[in-house]
Amino acid sequence: MESMSENSEEFYRIQKLPPYVFAVINEMRAQARAAQLDVIDLGMGNPDGATPRVVVSKMVEAARNARNHRYSASRGIPRLREEITRRYRANYGVELDPDKEAIVTIGAKDALAHLLFAVVGPGDAVVSPNPAYPIHQYGVIMAEGHACLLPLPSPAEFLNRLEHLYQSSSRPPKLILISFPHNPTTTCVDLDFFREIITMARRYGTLVVHDFAYADLGFDGYKPPSILQVEGAKEVAVEIFSMSKSYNMAGWRVGYCLGNPRMISALARIKSYLDYGVFQPIQIAAIIALRECEEETRKICAVYQKRRDILVSGLERAGWPVEKPRGSMFLWAPVPERFRAAGSLEFAKLLMEKALVAVSPGIGFGPLGEGYVRFALVENEHRIKQATRSIGKFLKR
Ligand SMILES: Cc1ncc(COP(=O)(O)O)c(C=O)c1O
Repeated sequence: MESMSENSEEFYRIQKLPPYVFAVINEMRAQARAAQLDVIDLGMGNPDGATPRVVVSKMVEAARNARNHRYSASRGIPRLREEITRRYRANYGVELDPDKEAIVTIGAKDALAHLLFAVVGPGDAVVSPNPAYPIHQYGVIMAEGHACLLPLPSPAEFLNRLEHLYQSSSRPPKLILISFPHNPTTTCVDLDFFREIITMARRYGTLVVHDFAYADLGFDGYKPPSILQVEGAKEVAVEIFSMSKSYNMAGWRVGYCLGNPRMISALARIKSYLDYGVFQPIQIAAIIALRECEEETRKICAVYQKRRDILVSGLERAGWPVEKPRGSMFLWAPVPERFRAAGSLEFAKLLMEKALVAVSPGIGFGPLGEGYVRFALVENEHRIKQATRSIGKFLKR
Protein backbone atom coordinates (compact mmCIF):
# COMPACT_ATOMS: atom_id res chain seq x y z
CA MET A 1 0.00 0.00 0.00
CA GLU A 2 1.26 3.49 -0.84
CA SER A 3 1.76 5.99 1.96
CA MET A 4 0.04 9.39 1.89
CA SER A 5 3.28 11.13 0.94
CA GLU A 6 3.82 8.83 -2.05
CA ASN A 7 0.29 9.51 -3.22
CA SER A 8 0.94 13.25 -3.33
CA GLU A 9 3.52 12.71 -6.11
CA GLU A 10 0.75 12.56 -8.69
CA PHE A 11 -0.27 16.22 -8.21
CA TYR A 12 0.68 18.57 -11.03
CA ARG A 13 3.06 20.90 -9.12
CA ILE A 14 4.29 18.30 -6.65
CA GLN A 15 5.69 16.27 -9.55
CA LYS A 16 8.04 19.16 -10.23
CA LEU A 17 9.32 19.32 -6.66
CA PRO A 18 11.76 16.54 -5.82
CA PRO A 19 11.79 15.43 -2.16
CA TYR A 20 14.16 17.62 -0.13
CA VAL A 21 17.63 16.01 -0.25
CA PHE A 22 18.20 17.34 3.27
CA ALA A 23 15.40 15.09 4.52
CA VAL A 24 17.79 12.10 4.30
CA ILE A 25 20.24 13.71 6.72
CA ASN A 26 17.44 14.99 8.96
CA GLU A 27 16.07 11.45 9.23
CA MET A 28 19.51 10.06 10.16
CA ARG A 29 19.95 12.80 12.75
CA ALA A 30 16.55 12.02 14.27
CA GLN A 31 17.40 8.31 14.45
CA ALA A 32 20.80 8.98 16.06
CA ARG A 33 19.22 11.27 18.61
CA ALA A 34 16.49 8.74 19.34
CA ALA A 35 19.34 6.31 20.11
CA GLN A 36 20.66 8.88 22.66
CA LEU A 37 23.66 9.79 20.46
CA ASP A 38 24.93 13.36 20.69
CA VAL A 39 24.77 14.76 17.15
CA ILE A 40 26.40 18.14 16.51
CA ASP A 41 24.02 19.74 14.06
CA LEU A 42 25.70 22.07 11.57
CA GLY A 43 23.14 21.22 8.90
CA MET A 44 20.30 23.71 8.63
CA GLY A 45 21.00 27.48 8.79
CA ASN A 46 18.69 27.90 11.75
CA PRO A 47 20.09 30.56 14.11
CA ASP A 48 20.60 29.24 17.65
CA GLY A 49 20.80 32.65 19.35
CA ALA A 50 17.97 34.35 21.24
CA THR A 51 15.96 37.25 19.85
CA PRO A 52 16.95 40.50 21.65
CA ARG A 53 15.07 40.81 24.94
CA VAL A 54 13.54 44.20 24.21
CA VAL A 55 11.93 42.72 21.14
CA VAL A 56 10.44 39.80 23.07
CA SER A 57 9.17 42.18 25.79
CA LYS A 58 7.51 44.44 23.21
CA MET A 59 5.87 41.44 21.60
CA VAL A 60 4.46 40.27 24.97
CA GLU A 61 3.17 43.76 25.76
CA ALA A 62 1.55 44.16 22.33
CA ALA A 63 0.03 40.67 22.48
CA ARG A 64 -1.86 41.70 25.64
CA ASN A 65 -3.68 44.40 23.72
CA ALA A 66 -6.86 43.07 22.13
CA ARG A 67 -6.64 45.66 19.38
CA ASN A 68 -3.67 43.72 18.03
CA HIS A 69 -5.59 40.45 17.77
CA ARG A 70 -7.48 41.37 14.61
CA TYR A 71 -6.37 40.79 11.03
CA SER A 72 -3.44 43.05 10.27
CA ALA A 73 -2.61 44.83 7.02
CA SER A 74 -1.31 42.43 4.37
CA ARG A 75 1.41 44.85 3.21
CA GLY A 76 2.51 45.63 6.79
CA ILE A 77 1.61 48.40 9.24
CA PRO A 78 2.78 51.87 8.11
CA ARG A 79 5.12 52.44 11.09
CA LEU A 80 7.04 49.26 10.33
CA ARG A 81 7.38 50.21 6.67
CA GLU A 82 8.62 53.64 7.79
CA GLU A 83 11.13 52.03 10.14
CA ILE A 84 12.65 49.76 7.50
CA THR A 85 13.00 52.69 5.12
CA ARG A 86 14.69 54.67 7.91
CA ARG A 87 17.15 51.79 8.39
CA TYR A 88 17.95 51.78 4.67
CA ARG A 89 18.57 55.55 4.77
CA ALA A 90 20.82 55.23 7.82
CA ASN A 91 22.74 52.14 6.72
CA TYR A 92 22.98 52.54 2.95
CA GLY A 93 22.01 56.13 2.14
CA VAL A 94 19.06 54.74 0.14
CA GLU A 95 15.76 56.68 0.01
CA LEU A 96 12.58 54.60 -0.22
CA ASP A 97 8.92 55.57 -0.21
CA PRO A 98 7.34 53.52 2.61
CA ASP A 99 4.02 53.39 0.76
CA LYS A 100 5.10 52.49 -2.76
CA GLU A 101 8.56 51.05 -2.36
CA ALA A 102 8.31 48.87 0.75
CA ILE A 103 6.18 45.92 1.76
CA VAL A 104 6.37 43.67 4.81
CA THR A 105 6.41 39.93 4.11
CA ILE A 106 6.14 36.70 6.09
CA GLY A 107 9.91 36.26 5.97
CA ALA A 108 12.09 36.38 2.88
CA LYS A 109 10.71 33.06 1.65
CA ASP A 110 7.21 34.49 1.33
CA ALA A 111 8.61 37.47 -0.56
CA LEU A 112 10.63 35.29 -2.92
CA ALA A 113 7.98 32.68 -3.64
CA HIS A 114 5.13 35.11 -4.15
CA LEU A 115 7.11 37.70 -6.05
CA LEU A 116 8.16 35.00 -8.52
CA PHE A 117 4.56 33.84 -8.67
CA ALA A 118 3.46 37.42 -9.37
CA VAL A 119 5.94 38.40 -12.08
CA VAL A 120 7.06 35.19 -13.80
CA GLY A 121 4.85 33.60 -16.44
CA PRO A 122 5.02 30.27 -18.29
CA GLY A 123 8.33 29.91 -20.08
CA ASP A 124 9.89 33.14 -18.75
CA ALA A 125 13.59 32.60 -18.12
CA VAL A 126 14.93 33.41 -14.66
CA VAL A 127 18.69 33.42 -14.30
CA SER A 128 20.28 32.61 -10.98
CA PRO A 129 23.60 31.27 -9.78
CA ASN A 130 23.83 27.60 -8.99
CA PRO A 131 24.21 26.09 -6.42
CA ALA A 132 21.54 28.15 -4.66
CA TYR A 133 19.03 28.28 -1.85
CA PRO A 134 16.30 25.84 -3.01
CA ILE A 135 13.43 28.36 -3.32
CA HIS A 136 15.54 30.34 -5.80
CA GLN A 137 15.23 27.41 -8.20
CA TYR A 138 11.91 25.91 -7.24
CA GLY A 139 10.05 29.21 -6.82
CA VAL A 140 10.70 29.69 -10.53
CA ILE A 141 9.58 26.17 -11.38
CA MET A 142 6.40 26.55 -9.31
CA ALA A 143 5.65 29.75 -11.24
CA GLU A 144 6.14 27.71 -14.45
CA GLY A 145 9.15 29.75 -15.45
CA HIS A 146 12.36 28.37 -16.86
CA ALA A 147 15.11 28.26 -14.22
CA CYS A 148 18.36 29.06 -15.98
CA LEU A 149 21.24 28.06 -13.71
CA LEU A 150 24.60 29.74 -14.20
CA PRO A 151 27.70 28.57 -12.36
CA LEU A 152 29.26 30.91 -9.82
CA PRO A 153 32.97 30.06 -9.68
CA SER A 154 33.54 33.77 -9.03
CA PRO A 155 31.44 36.95 -9.31
CA ALA A 156 33.42 38.03 -12.42
CA GLU A 157 32.87 34.69 -14.14
CA PHE A 158 29.14 34.85 -13.34
CA LEU A 159 28.98 38.26 -15.04
CA ASN A 160 30.85 36.92 -18.09
CA ARG A 161 28.44 34.05 -18.43
CA LEU A 162 25.45 36.34 -18.00
CA GLU A 163 26.74 38.65 -20.74
CA HIS A 164 27.26 35.62 -22.97
CA LEU A 165 23.72 34.43 -22.24
CA TYR A 166 22.29 37.79 -23.29
CA GLN A 167 24.27 37.71 -26.52
CA SER A 168 23.44 34.15 -27.42
CA SER A 169 19.72 33.89 -26.61
CA SER A 170 16.97 35.29 -28.80
CA ARG A 171 14.80 36.27 -25.83
CA PRO A 172 16.45 37.99 -22.86
CA PRO A 173 15.75 36.58 -19.38
CA LYS A 174 12.76 38.07 -17.63
CA LEU A 175 14.50 38.22 -14.28
CA ILE A 176 17.88 37.84 -12.59
CA LEU A 177 17.69 36.39 -9.08
CA ILE A 178 20.81 36.82 -6.98
CA SER A 179 21.78 36.77 -3.31
CA PHE A 180 25.02 37.95 -1.70
CA PRO A 181 26.55 37.02 0.77
CA HIS A 182 25.59 33.83 -1.00
CA ASN A 183 24.06 30.71 0.47
CA PRO A 184 25.56 28.09 0.17
CA THR A 185 28.86 29.14 -1.47
CA THR A 186 29.50 32.17 0.86
CA THR A 187 30.60 34.21 -2.19
CA CYS A 188 30.59 37.93 -1.42
CA VAL A 189 30.49 40.83 -3.86
CA ASP A 190 31.21 44.54 -3.89
CA LEU A 191 29.07 47.38 -5.21
CA ASP A 192 30.74 47.27 -8.64
CA PHE A 193 29.31 43.81 -9.19
CA PHE A 194 25.81 45.16 -8.56
CA ARG A 195 26.53 48.13 -10.86
CA GLU A 196 27.29 45.70 -13.69
CA ILE A 197 24.13 43.67 -13.00
CA ILE A 198 21.94 46.79 -12.98
CA THR A 199 23.55 48.13 -16.15
CA MET A 200 22.90 44.86 -17.98
CA ALA A 201 19.36 44.58 -16.62
CA ARG A 202 18.49 48.13 -17.71
CA ARG A 203 20.05 47.62 -21.13
CA TYR A 204 18.06 44.44 -21.83
CA GLY A 205 14.85 45.23 -19.91
CA THR A 206 15.34 42.52 -17.27
CA LEU A 207 14.07 42.67 -13.70
CA VAL A 208 16.41 41.98 -10.76
CA VAL A 209 15.62 40.46 -7.37
CA HIS A 210 18.35 40.56 -4.74
CA ASP A 211 17.81 38.33 -1.71
CA PHE A 212 19.75 40.08 1.07
CA ALA A 213 19.14 37.52 3.84
CA TYR A 214 22.75 37.85 5.10
CA ALA A 215 22.87 41.64 4.89
CA ASP A 216 24.49 42.03 8.30
CA LEU A 217 26.82 39.04 8.29
CA GLY A 218 30.05 40.45 6.84
CA PHE A 219 33.36 39.62 8.55
CA ASP A 220 36.74 41.30 9.13
CA GLY A 221 35.34 44.76 8.34
CA TYR A 222 33.54 43.73 5.15
CA LYS A 223 30.10 45.36 4.88
CA PRO A 224 27.85 43.66 2.33
CA PRO A 225 26.44 46.30 -0.05
CA SER A 226 22.76 46.75 -0.86
CA ILE A 227 21.90 46.56 -4.56
CA LEU A 228 19.68 49.61 -4.01
CA GLN A 229 22.83 51.69 -3.46
CA VAL A 230 23.39 51.56 -7.22
CA GLU A 231 22.02 54.64 -8.93
CA GLY A 232 18.89 53.83 -10.90
CA ALA A 233 18.57 50.37 -9.28
CA LYS A 234 14.96 51.02 -8.31
CA GLU A 235 14.00 51.20 -11.99
CA VAL A 236 14.54 47.46 -12.32
CA ALA A 237 15.38 45.94 -8.94
CA VAL A 238 13.94 44.97 -5.59
CA GLU A 239 15.84 43.80 -2.55
CA ILE A 240 14.52 41.33 0.00
CA PHE A 241 15.65 41.89 3.57
CA SER A 242 14.98 39.47 6.43
CA MET A 243 14.85 39.80 10.22
CA SER A 244 15.73 36.09 10.60
CA LYS A 245 19.52 36.32 10.70
CA SER A 246 20.20 39.98 11.51
CA TYR A 247 18.09 39.88 14.69
CA ASN A 248 17.87 36.14 15.48
CA MET A 249 14.18 36.26 14.58
CA ALA A 250 13.93 33.25 12.24
CA GLY A 251 10.79 31.83 13.85
CA TRP A 252 8.99 35.18 13.90
CA ARG A 253 8.68 35.33 10.11
CA VAL A 254 9.31 38.95 9.20
CA GLY A 255 10.91 40.16 5.99
CA TYR A 256 10.57 43.00 3.49
CA CYS A 257 10.60 43.59 -0.23
CA LEU A 258 12.00 47.01 -1.13
CA GLY A 259 12.61 49.06 -4.25
CA ASN A 260 10.95 48.88 -7.68
CA PRO A 261 7.33 50.07 -7.21
CA ARG A 262 5.96 47.91 -10.05
CA MET A 263 7.21 44.71 -8.47
CA ILE A 264 6.16 45.84 -4.97
CA SER A 265 2.68 46.56 -6.22
CA ALA A 266 2.48 43.15 -7.97
CA LEU A 267 3.57 41.41 -4.77
CA ALA A 268 1.08 43.45 -2.72
CA ARG A 269 -1.73 42.42 -5.07
CA ILE A 270 -0.91 38.69 -4.86
CA LYS A 271 -0.50 38.86 -1.10
CA SER A 272 -3.78 40.69 -0.64
CA TYR A 273 -5.44 37.49 -1.86
CA LEU A 274 -3.24 35.15 0.17
CA ASP A 275 -2.70 36.52 3.67
CA TYR A 276 -3.61 39.16 6.24
CA GLY A 277 -0.05 40.03 7.09
CA VAL A 278 2.18 39.15 10.00
CA PHE A 279 0.53 39.00 13.48
CA GLN A 280 0.45 42.63 14.58
CA PRO A 281 2.33 42.23 17.90
CA ILE A 282 5.21 40.75 15.89
CA GLN A 283 5.20 43.74 13.54
CA ILE A 284 5.22 46.11 16.53
CA ALA A 285 8.13 44.19 18.07
CA ALA A 286 9.97 44.27 14.72
CA ILE A 287 9.82 48.10 14.85
CA ILE A 288 11.74 47.94 18.13
CA ALA A 289 14.29 45.56 16.65
CA LEU A 290 14.97 47.87 13.71
CA ARG A 291 15.03 50.98 15.92
CA GLU A 292 17.00 49.78 18.94
CA CYS A 293 19.01 46.67 18.11
CA GLU A 294 21.84 47.71 15.79
CA GLU A 295 24.35 46.82 18.49
CA GLU A 296 22.76 43.37 18.91
CA THR A 297 23.14 42.83 15.18
CA ARG A 298 26.86 43.60 15.40
CA LYS A 299 27.19 41.15 18.29
CA ILE A 300 25.37 38.42 16.34
CA CYS A 301 27.77 38.96 13.45
CA ALA A 302 30.77 38.76 15.80
CA VAL A 303 29.53 35.43 17.16
CA TYR A 304 29.42 33.94 13.66
CA GLN A 305 32.86 35.35 12.83
CA LYS A 306 34.39 33.71 15.90
CA ARG A 307 32.71 30.39 15.10
CA ARG A 308 33.95 30.64 11.52
CA ASP A 309 37.53 31.02 12.78
CA ILE A 310 37.19 28.06 15.12
CA LEU A 311 35.67 25.85 12.46
CA VAL A 312 38.25 26.78 9.81
CA SER A 313 41.21 26.21 12.14
CA GLY A 314 39.69 23.00 13.55
CA LEU A 315 39.15 21.59 10.05
CA GLU A 316 42.69 22.62 9.11
CA ARG A 317 44.00 20.55 12.05
CA ALA A 318 41.74 17.70 10.93
CA GLY A 319 43.55 17.75 7.58
CA TRP A 320 40.70 19.43 5.73
CA PRO A 321 41.72 22.92 4.59
CA VAL A 322 38.80 25.23 3.73
CA GLU A 323 38.75 28.86 2.60
CA LYS A 324 37.62 31.45 5.15
CA PRO A 325 34.34 33.09 4.08
CA ARG A 326 34.01 36.90 4.19
CA GLY A 327 30.32 36.70 5.02
CA SER A 328 27.16 34.59 5.62
CA MET A 329 26.78 32.03 8.42
CA PHE A 330 28.22 29.10 6.50
CA LEU A 331 31.36 27.33 5.41
CA TRP A 332 31.36 25.78 1.94
CA ALA A 333 33.82 22.94 2.02
CA PRO A 334 35.06 20.80 -0.88
CA VAL A 335 34.53 17.12 -0.13
CA PRO A 336 37.97 15.63 0.64
CA GLU A 337 39.50 14.03 -2.47
CA ARG A 338 39.21 10.40 -1.44
CA PHE A 339 35.44 10.68 -0.80
CA ARG A 340 34.59 12.83 -3.81
CA ALA A 341 33.65 10.04 -6.22
CA ALA A 342 30.91 8.80 -3.87
CA GLY A 343 29.21 12.21 -3.93
CA SER A 344 28.28 14.83 -1.34
CA LEU A 345 25.21 13.01 -0.01
CA GLU A 346 27.19 9.83 0.73
CA PHE A 347 29.92 11.88 2.38
CA ALA A 348 27.40 13.77 4.52
CA LYS A 349 25.92 10.43 5.58
CA LEU A 350 29.40 9.22 6.54
CA LEU A 351 30.06 12.35 8.62
CA MET A 352 26.81 11.72 10.42
CA GLU A 353 27.43 8.03 10.95
CA LYS A 354 31.13 8.10 11.85
CA ALA A 355 31.64 11.55 13.36
CA LEU A 356 28.11 12.36 14.57
CA VAL A 357 28.24 15.70 12.76
CA ALA A 358 25.33 16.81 10.56
CA VAL A 359 26.14 18.93 7.48
CA SER A 360 24.18 19.72 4.31
CA PRO A 361 25.24 17.88 1.15
CA GLY A 362 26.03 20.28 -1.71
CA ILE A 363 23.80 18.37 -4.14
CA GLY A 364 20.80 19.59 -2.13
CA PHE A 365 21.50 23.09 -3.50
CA GLY A 366 21.33 22.00 -7.13
CA PRO A 367 23.46 20.06 -9.61
CA LEU A 368 26.42 22.44 -9.39
CA GLY A 369 26.61 21.99 -5.62
CA GLU A 370 27.97 18.47 -6.01
CA GLY A 371 31.47 17.98 -4.62
CA TYR A 372 30.85 20.20 -1.56
CA VAL A 373 29.19 20.12 1.84
CA ARG A 374 27.90 23.14 3.77
CA PHE A 375 28.49 23.73 7.45
CA ALA A 376 26.10 26.15 9.20
CA LEU A 377 27.66 28.01 12.15
CA VAL A 378 24.73 27.29 14.46
CA GLU A 379 26.34 25.52 17.41
CA ASN A 380 28.52 27.15 20.06
CA GLU A 381 32.33 27.34 19.99
CA HIS A 382 32.79 24.39 22.31
CA ARG A 383 30.55 22.17 20.18
CA ILE A 384 32.24 23.29 16.97
CA LYS A 385 35.63 22.31 18.44
CA GLN A 386 34.15 18.96 19.44
CA ALA A 387 32.83 18.52 15.87
CA THR A 388 36.22 19.19 14.28
CA ARG A 389 38.01 16.79 16.65
CA SER A 390 35.51 14.11 15.81
CA ILE A 391 35.83 14.80 12.05
CA GLY A 392 39.63 14.69 12.45
CA LYS A 393 39.47 11.22 14.03
CA PHE A 394 37.20 10.00 11.24
CA LEU A 395 39.39 11.42 8.44
CA LYS A 396 42.57 9.99 9.92
CA ARG A 397 41.17 6.49 10.22
C1 LIG B 1 19.39 33.01 0.79
C2 LIG B 1 18.28 32.88 1.77
N1 LIG B 1 17.14 33.54 1.57
C3 LIG B 1 16.11 33.47 2.44
C4 LIG B 1 16.19 32.66 3.55
C5 LIG B 1 15.00 32.56 4.47
O1 LIG B 1 14.75 33.77 5.07
P1 LIG B 1 13.42 33.99 5.94
O2 LIG B 1 13.62 33.30 7.23
O3 LIG B 1 13.32 35.46 6.08
O4 LIG B 1 12.29 33.41 5.15
C6 LIG B 1 17.34 31.95 3.81
C7 LIG B 1 17.40 31.09 5.01
O5 LIG B 1 18.24 30.28 5.21
C8 LIG B 1 18.40 32.05 2.88
O6 LIG B 1 19.53 31.36 3.07
